[in-house]
Amino acid sequence: MKFVLATQNAKKKAELSAILHDLGVEIVTEEELGIHVDVEENGTTFAENAALKADAVMKASGLPAIADDSGLCVHALGGAPGVYSARYGGEGLSDEARYRLLLRALAGQTDRSAHFETAVCCAFPNGDHLAANGECRGSIAFSPMGTNGFGYDPVFFVTEQRKTFAQLTAEEKAAISHRGNALRAFRAALEAYLKENPEG
Ligand code: IMP
Repeated sequence: MKFVLATQNAKKKAELSAILHDLGVEIVTEEELGIHVDVEENGTTFAENAALKADAVMKASGLPAIADDSGLCVHALGGAPGVYSARYGGEGLSDEARYRLLLRALAGQTDRSAHFETAVCCAFPNGDHLAANGECRGSIAFSPMGTNGFGYDPVFFVTEQRKTFAQLTAEEKAAISHRGNALRAFRAALEAYLKENPEG
């Protein structure tokens, strides 16, 4: 069964294809279908944004569409940057400028606890929706460490690993990350859905 992934990011396609492959799921991107859906991500939660994207791409393609939305929630900042993680500090900042801004916002703060969150949504043309979530708990380091990954990885410290996300390999990160957890939960939900609805 064919699903379209609401992303322009080829890496996300490879990651999702690997996780869903043995369910008989084929993933295509918007680009491969020749569509480009610009969705205003104006939801107040990750789940709302994932559903907005999945619905828009499902309508444009006529196929079941999978979308995800993630971000970093810092508890001492009331959950910020949250759904604004990609835009924290304004458009046009580099990843490094953004995490340095976050470190400044936390200067003198003793509660550095934080979590990453991912929401995944699949919208089916028959109106059904499947949703899944994943989380990874940690804290904001006092200074950046590591060079792997992207975004806030150098300042997100995972207690159990005693490393930041940027000090983990891609495989080590996927085994514990918010995104890895959300994709595994989504896979389980989709497997159950496809058993009940073999035609989708
Ligand atoms: P997206 O919804 O996956 O595009 O994520 C939105 C933003 O959240 C990204 O632009 C990053 O700033 C941040 N983010 C999400 N996941 C991660 C992660 O695994 N590491 C670091 N930053 C992340």
